[in-house]
Order: sequence, then structure tokens, then C-alpha cells
Amino acid sequence: MLLIRGGTIVDSERTYRADVLCLDERIAAIGHDIDAPLGCQTLDAGGLLIMPGGIDPHTHMEMPFMGSVSSDDFETGTTAGLVGGTTTILDFVIPEVGGSLIDAWHAWASRAEKAVTDYSFHVAITHWNDRVSMEMGRLTQEYGVNSFKHFMAYKGALMVDDGVLMHSISRALELGALCNIHAENGDAVAYLQRDLLARGLTGPESHPQSRPPAVEGEAAQRVIAIAGLLGAPIYIVHVSTKDATDAISRARAQGQRVYGEVLAQHLVIDDSVYETDDWLRKAQHVMSPPFRPKAHQEALWAGLASGQLQTTATDHCCFCAPQKEQGRDDFTKIPNGTPGIEDRMSVLWHHGVRTGRLTPMEFVAITSTNTARIFNIHPRKGSISVGADADLVLWDPDASRTISANTSRQRVDYNVYEGMTVTGLARHVVAGGRLAYVDGDLRARRGQGRYIERPCFSPDFDAIRRRAAFR
Ligand code: URP
Ligand code: ZN
Ligand code: ZN
Ligand code: ZN
Repeated sequence: MLLIRGGTIVDSERTYRADVLCLDERIAAIGHDIDAPLGCQTLDAGGLLIMPGGIDPHTHMEMPFMGSVSSDDFETGTTAGLVGGTTTILDFVIPEVGGSLIDAWHAWASRAEKAVTDYSFHVAITHWNDRVSMEMGRLTQEYGVNSFKHFMAYKGALMVDDGVLMHSISRALELGALCNIHAENGDAVAYLQRDLLARGLTGPESHPQSRPPAVEGEAAQRVIAIAGLLGAPIYIVHVSTKDATDAISRARAQGQRVYGEVLAQHLVIDDSVYETDDWLRKAQHVMSPPFRPKAHQEALWAGLASGQLQTTATDHCCFCAPQKEQGRDDFTKIPNGTPGIEDRMSVLWHHGVRTGRLTPMEFVAITSTNTARIFNIHPRKGSISVGADADLVLWDPDASRTISANTSRQRVDYNVYEGMTVTGLARHVVAGGRLAYVDGDLRARRGQGRYIERPCFSPDFDAIRRRAAFR
């Protein structure tokens, strides 16, 4: 039992003073001057904001990728998330091309048993056949999976073509599951990569040149058109350009249910990181989509503020220097990915709320509540209400810290925000009703995180069915 006293609750709707009583894993009461039951631990939240724990809808812990395995595992990665205020992650099960989705789910589930915070899985569709269709059904009915991921990039590896997208999006619609899309035109990328390499342009600065904004804009428009043909909702991950943001906004203005996710990294880091002679520094910023010219950042912030883009993530995918070195002579062999889970909340508060781009309630919406709604775990997650999971971040809006790999819990040898001083940090974190992090002291243990089943047929699906009937 835990009673949190004297704080200010901020959820996605309102801000108010109240105490919160947590019993077992849930919120048992919210009110004024709640009396501490016998044996109840109390926590003074004076001067702090009590917000729903962050949900990171896009992470890759210990993922085999591009000949390497991402260096943060489910224990270290969720620990880093926890100290930054994130209490749930949605990670990606990536089946081998031709392999079983169910076998891959089990492989990820066994790795994730050591997670410190709650977790759930999207499952990637990397090929199409009858078994995939059947296993999508089993995953939704028996495994609590309600979202499937598709890569329009990574040709020759994870990429799927428009035919696979048609099959898979149509099957997911039937099952009441949401499709996630990595929108980049993989054929265009492969062509541009070959061309750059043929001209001897082998360094990491060629990475962004092989994936210009139009590559993302085209793929976003194409998958929106495909989903539109089928009448299915879709969720586009790591939107990094004005091009893709505009495609999403246009579709939404026409009544299509399209969601867009933004990475904190893309909001505050631009393509100037590729303008250096330091090979490793450039390689450390090789991720897809790449960092963009500054003008795109304003479009992303405006997208979040206006509600055209709904969620923020990190795509947390860490590779240390020796792993990045794999691509020393060929930028296409540098494992793609950047870290970020520990700092997402602080970076968004500092650059979003402190600057007036977002209200504190909007901050809660884009770091937690919207993800919970879209992936159909609201109000269990993403809300402060009686019966909800007691995942709470006690936020100090005025405290500052300077970000550095040296003081980070992320298991990786660099930080893309190195040296950035941010105001706004997680003072204490409650996960599953337990005090998991208290003023710098980590109390959560390996394996305390739970697998979160997500039911299919979010309210979107019923609305889509009714809409079709009314046309
Ligand atoms: O560069 C990235 N984003 N690596 C992780 C895989 C993906 O595309 O999300
Ligand atoms: Zn991706
Ligand atoms: Zn990713
Ligand atoms: Zn939905």
C-alpha cells in the first residue's frame, strides 16, 4: 500500500490537487486528505506533478539487426526508461523472413522476462503466406497482440512490398488489429545507396543522402492510400519529415484514421550532426529515418501541438562503437539506430512544455495517454483513475540535469543528447504500485515487469464499420 500526498495530478484532461492511494498494482482511491490505512507507506509529493507513467511505443531491446544485436537488453533498457519516467514499453518481435511469428513471439517473450517495467509486443510481418495469416489470428486471440509492424524499407531484409501490405493490412482489419508502418521507399533507398557507393561516397554522411525526405513522404502517402483502399486504420512510426506529416494531415482531414509517431531525437537534433570529420560521431547518428534539416522539426512540433501527430517514442536501438565500426568502409553496413529511452520525457518537457509548444496536459497525452488509447490499453495505462495500473511519475518541473553517457543507465557508450541541460525530471517513479525509483535510488528489480496483453478491436474499428455502413 502506498499513499502519495500533497502532489498535483496532471493527466491528459486536467490538473488538480489530490492524494493517490495505491493498493497492490492498482490505483485504489484519489481524493483530498486521504487517511493513510494501517501499515501504509506514505510519500510526500509536495511541489511535484503526478503524471501517468510514460509509455514508449517503439523500442528495440536486444534486437538482432544488421549483423549485430542492440546493446541494451530488456533489463538495462527498461531500467533506463524507468529512471526517466517511462513505465511501459512496446517492443517489436521481428520474425525471420519465412519464419514462424509464434516462434519469434516466444523468443522475445523469454528475453523480456527480465524486464524491470511492463512491456508489450508489436509483431512484424516480414513476408506473406497462409501460415502468416493463420498466426496473425492466433497472436491476436491467444497472445494479446493487437498490432503488426511493416517495414517499407530495408530491401533484401525486412522490407515488404505493396502486395504484402495489402494482404496484411486487410487481415489485420479483419482481426481488429492496428498496422504500424516504417514508411521509407526501400527500392529508392537501395538505388541511392548503390549510386553513392559506386561514386566512392562510403562514409556515414552518405546515409542521409540515401534517404532524403521525399523517400519518406512517398512511402507515407503510398501506405495511406493502401490503407484507405482497404478502409483500415494505420499508425506510421518515426515520422521525421514535413512531407510525411503533411500526408498524414491531409488524410485525417479527409476522415481517414491515420496516426503518426515522432521520436524525441528528431524533434531536437538536426542533420548538422553529419557535418564533422569525426567518423564515429556521424556513425552514431546513423538511424532510419536520418536526422533532418531544421525546417522539418518545426513541422513535427506543430504536428504534435495540433494533434495531427499523436505519440512520441524513441525507437531506442543502441549500438556501441565496435558495432558501428562494422560499417567503417561502407555506410550501408553501419547498424541503424540511436539510444533515447532514458531522456525522452525530460527532453520533451524541456523543449516542449518549458518553451510553450505544449501544455503539461498535452505532454501527458503525447508521452502516455494517446499511446494507451491507440493501442487499446486505456484507461488501464495512460490514465490516473481508480482501477488503473499504479504507474506514476512524480515529476519535478523545475529541477535540471545535464545529460551524459557517463551518468546514464542506458547500456551504450554514447548519448545523442550529450551535454544538453534539461529542466524537468522524474523525482520518483511508481511502477505496478511499487516505489520503483526514489530520488536516484533504484528499487525495482529484474523481472518485475509484466507482459501486457492488449485486446483487439479498439473503438476505431467499430467506428470504421459503422462509417462504412453509412456511406
Ligand atoms: O534506425 C533505426 N530506426 N533502427 C531500428 C529499426 C527501425 O527501423 O525502427
Ligand atoms: Zn523503423
Ligand atoms: Zn524501430
Ligand atoms: Zn486504433
